[in-house]
Amino acid sequence: MTTLGVRAIAAQALAQVALGGESLRLVLPKASAGLADPRDRALLAAILFDASRWYLRLDVLLDRLLAKPLRKRDPELHCLLIAGLTQIRYLNLPSHAAVAETVNAARELRRTQFAGLVNAILRRYLREREALEIALDADPLTRSSHPRWLVERLQHDWPQQLPEILDGNNTPAPLWLRVNRRRTTVTDLGERLRAQGIEATPHPLCIDALLLAQSTDVTRLPGFVEGEFSVQDGAAQLAADLLALQPGQRVLDACAAPGGKTAHICERADVSVLALDKEAARLPRMHENLRRLGLTAELRAADAAATADWWDGVPFQRILLDAPCSASGIIRRQPDIKLHRRATDIATLVSEQKRLLDALWPLLASGGRFLYATCSILQAENEQQIAGFLARTPNARNIAFAADNSALENWGMATPSGRQNFPGQNGMDGFFYAILEKVA
Ligand SMILES: C[S@@+](CC[C@H](N)C(=O)[O-])C[C@H]1O[C@@H](n2cnc3c(N)ncnc32)[C@H](O)[C@@H]1O
Repeated sequence: MTTLGVRAIAAQALAQVALGGESLRLVLPKASAGLADPRDRALLAAILFDASRWYLRLDVLLDRLLAKPLRKRDPELHCLLIAGLTQIRYLNLPSHAAVAETVNAARELRRTQFAGLVNAILRRYLREREALEIALDADPLTRSSHPRWLVERLQHDWPQQLPEILDGNNTPAPLWLRVNRRRTTVTDLGERLRAQGIEATPHPLCIDALLLAQSTDVTRLPGFVEGEFSVQDGAAQLAADLLALQPGQRVLDACAAPGGKTAHICERADVSVLALDKEAARLPRMHENLRRLGLTAELRAADAAATADWWDGVPFQRILLDAPCSASGIIRRQPDIKLHRRATDIATLVSEQKRLLDALWPLLASGGRFLYATCSILQAENEQQIAGFLARTPNARNIAFAADNSALENWGMATPSGRQNFPGQNGMDGFFYAILEKVA
């Protein structure tokens, strides 16, 4: 058996993601497992992220370079060429090395008869690069490398913000840490990281956050094993603030896995947390994270909307519904969302969010607070969802953000019932929050 190099592995993995419908989050660790050298693993990740981010553009480019498309006839060879173009165009690797290594990978993949074709296509790109790129930039879809349905939807929802949103989606996200205040402080951990030459800066809107200038393997940072921090985007870190937790409260985290917000709630206040997720397979990892962080919550596998199956009848003072959504706000972190999400998914997600909202609202104590969150930037899942809920729920009232924390007054953009952050705005993911209160 021949051992495959990083480019050949990238071609196979990209074919699974871009043409096989598999998630990059799941494919990458399996693909990396065969690579011993950390530099190879880093290169593989860089190729796969950029190739997914720019796939819809590079796919059109490749069709212009090839006499006959390869994607159906030979998905791995098609993806090997996409990976080669990614290395030249986006990773800025020396072109002679990128071409030679891609030709070599064709041989490793037993496509020796296509080695000449791979060489010719990549060299033609290098020769005609400028004209080809100008032509790709002329079309808004290929320029931004987004699917048509999503651009049309964003154009409809956010005509003025569209260019900024598309740019934000195509700009890799920074690495955000959430400091576990039960174990250390932002100042102390920041100092220890900087002493190791790692640039780590606090953020004015996120009191538990440290932003790292460079992506790194966080499990090797000081304090990880000791549970001093977790990885969590700044937008997600605001949930614990917006819940305005008080000691002794009963808190429901209705859609909790992988548990980032559950853990933050437990770090912040002495509350009793019930965390549900309908995917039982995701709970062991939540248990493991809570153990590392030294936290306790009750975890249960359940459909949160089927309240008769799990609710004991005692109301919650706080409910967090971090609803299943299109994830259109986190494309910068999960660029394969562009390839996998379909226009038809949105109506299904909207009705599931509505079902969860209506089923969970009766469980909130009078005077209690309900935080609705999505990592979406689509109005149907956010503003329109909450406007509809408020219209049919007489004992629900909307609370302004600045009520508890004036620093958040200008976070994102105000909508009639919540606030919308766009991808990259404040350095954070695209996210929506609405704070609702139950009136007597
Ligand atoms: C946006 S993610 C939650 C992220 C999580 N709150 C965090 O901060 O780590 C949505 C979660 O909702 C779960 N989910 C979807 N529908 C559900 C339902 N009807 N009941 C319970 N969980 C559900 C999914 O399995 C997924 O883990």
